[in-house]
Amino acid sequence: MRTHLKWPALLPVFTSFLFTCLSAPTIMAQAPEVFRLDGGRSTYAFGVNERGELQTLYWGASLGPRDKIPLAHSLPEWASFDSSYTNTPQEYSGWGGGLFTEPALKVAFADGNRDLVLHFVDANPNGPQSLEILLKDISREVYVRLRYSMDSETGILARSASIENREKQPILLEQVAAAQWTLPPARYLLSYLTGRWAGEWTLDQEPIHAGARVIESRRGSTGHQANPWFAISRDSSQEVVGPITADEEYGEVWFGALAWSGSWRITVEQTQLDSVRLTGGFNPFDFGYKLNPGERLETPLFYGGYSDHGLGGASRLLHHFELAQVLPHAPAPRPRPVIYNSWEATEFKVDEAGQMALAEKAASIGVDRFVMDDGWFGQRKDDHAGLGDWYVNPAKFPHGLKPLIDKVHALGMDFGLWVEPEMVNPDSDLYRKHPDWVLHFPGRPRSEQRNQIVLNLARNDVRDYVEAFLDKLLTENDIAFLKWDYNRNWSEPGWDQVPADEQRRVYVEFVRHLYAILADLRRKHPTIEIESCSGGGGRVDLGILRFTDEVWPSDNTDPFDRLTIQDGFTYAYTPQIMMAWVTDSPHWLDGRTTSLTYRMLSSMQGSLGIGANLNRWTAADFAAAKRLVAVYHAVQATIVHGNLYRLISPRNNSPFSSTETVSPEENQAVVFAFTHSTQEGRRFPLLQLQGLNPDAQYKLGWIEGKAEAGTPEVASGRWWMNHGLRLDLRGDFQAAAFRLDRQP
Ligand code: DGJ
Repeated sequence: MRTHLKWPALLPVFTSFLFTCLSAPTIMAQAPEVFRLDGGRSTYAFGVNERGELQTLYWGASLGPRDKIPLAHSLPEWASFDSSYTNTPQEYSGWGGGLFTEPALKVAFADGNRDLVLHFVDANPNGPQSLEILLKDISREVYVRLRYSMDSETGILARSASIENREKQPILLEQVAAAQWTLPPARYLLSYLTGRWAGEWTLDQEPIHAGARVIESRRGSTGHQANPWFAISRDSSQEVVGPITADEEYGEVWFGALAWSGSWRITVEQTQLDSVRLTGGFNPFDFGYKLNPGERLETPLFYGGYSDHGLGGASRLLHHFELAQVLPHAPAPRPRPVIYNSWEATEFKVDEAGQMALAEKAASIGVDRFVMDDGWFGQRKDDHAGLGDWYVNPAKFPHGLKPLIDKVHALGMDFGLWVEPEMVNPDSDLYRKHPDWVLHFPGRPRSEQRNQIVLNLARNDVRDYVEAFLDKLLTENDIAFLKWDYNRNWSEPGWDQVPADEQRRVYVEFVRHLYAILADLRRKHPTIEIESCSGGGGRVDLGILRFTDEVWPSDNTDPFDRLTIQDGFTYAYTPQIMMAWVTDSPHWLDGRTTSLTYRMLSSMQGSLGIGANLNRWTAADFAAAKRLVAVYHAVQATIVHGNLYRLISPRNNSPFSSTETVSPEENQAVVFAFTHSTQEGRRFPLLQLQGLNPDAQYKLGWIEGKAEAGTPEVASGRWWMNHGLRLDLRGDFQAAAFRLDRQP
């Protein structure tokens, strides 16, 4: 039944990598039928067992280049209740043959058969770092091509699957994962990110117990409620080393992220035999992809990596990978311009004179980019009207956008504009003309949220309309940046233009069209930069980040709340993309009053922006902000491209928090520290820095604040890391920051 791998043809290719150094990615094959990928400090291996199934063999710290990995052998039956098939950890399991764990692929055939058992057919190297494995059902013409690609620097492995129907009849794909990952039986702690609007990026941690924990979005897009990222560490939750929990900087961590901006699901299960399986891909809820004869469905990428330096090490690997491999300008995306955004200052009340006045003030503090937010188009006075009508509102901008853009340029900034391309207000010319263009089920209500409905981007005509208006906007105006917003999730996801049995393709085609539009715009306008915003952090994932340069993590700009939001965000994503605005005090959400310095330092932990109403600022505010924007420009590259250490977490009502970023060359470190509210005279915890060169000398420079008496001005990396320093930082909502510069 099974076709054997043609080893003679493949061996020369594989063995040529056998003795390459460990930092270079390698694919090694051990006859018969063991595949091994090495990159960074990790090894991943799988093999073909005696039944012909592709079986996971190893995922973890690097093995020796000459080490032999034992051949794959299926696990035995456990009494008569758990078959060998369900016990054996497959790389990509079909639902069939008595599988009770989560399947990667579940298929319904035209004749009613729903049994799918995938066996190995052949393997092909696909470049030095990549491998393709072909699987096939034991009798039906359903093929699955698994793709593996290992990043040499980080050891992050990109996996995906392509499902092909070579049957004579259509088949229905009921459940399709991108990849499955397996860890051997042990006690593990699962970390994942959850939230809600204005409260994104909460790091949840819990022991993995028997059964399944599902993290998902059923919303049509990534969602605020959970993010497609996970980390699994050895369960050391009771151990605390100084201010840093044991799994932050120590211990083994396996992590992953799904590159998909539609409905997604990651299932983490501890199986009946105590191993841990992760399955992630399209969310099977309401899913059903009809695959006609000859058609293929490509899954998103599911990345996985390994760190032996705890969660901190895992996030540093991910940050590096995102900068070097994922972002549009990888491997060297430039630090983000410091922006001014008008939203919190003016909301929908934008006009030429008001925006020009704000632009002058923004330029005076050293802002690089002026962004006009919502309200400039159609009949947009509030959120009841205008979405879909992408012409410049003639009452607000009688001469179009050009005078404002010219003014912004004359002030030495570039210009950015807000759009929300996938939405329509029923009160718009577009909806009056094309009421059928929205997601809906005929004859059923069309639920509005924020008075808007989702355009069905899966339709070709809608896709063409959206791309055409954006192309026109960018062609006719000198726009450097688009803030691409998306302010609701789906309801009634009908697509009545296609046959009933193809309508659920909407979950895939909508997102594919979104990506295609972004790719086309970037090709036609190569200098454009784009932010992914979805009412804050509702669309942040490694899929959209291939096409967007930055994201808006949250509409919550309260600087104290932001400490936790930013802390959670950095577990999965680099500070380079983490836009952080300084806004007004008291804050509109929590009513909290904070100093401008505190607000500035909170935002300077990411990519700095200003979103305050500058019309209300005093001369002292302008002077303070101007100084800190200049300081930020000087150290920004370290903050956004360096190695991040979360020295003290703001989570769990901590009264303190601190982060440190060290430049990749270890020439500079930038440290931020915050107190929430000191009590009973407790001092700020000892700050023992990390990641410095132990033998280099570093000079301390204050950005804001001071240390306790006796702190040296120049000391070795060892001193700053081992002895450490104590800040003189007390009170409510106080902040300090300093830099260490390596001495020649
Ligand atoms: C939601 C975004 O997150 C805000 O920053 C702002 O752009 C509004 N939408 C505008 O409607």
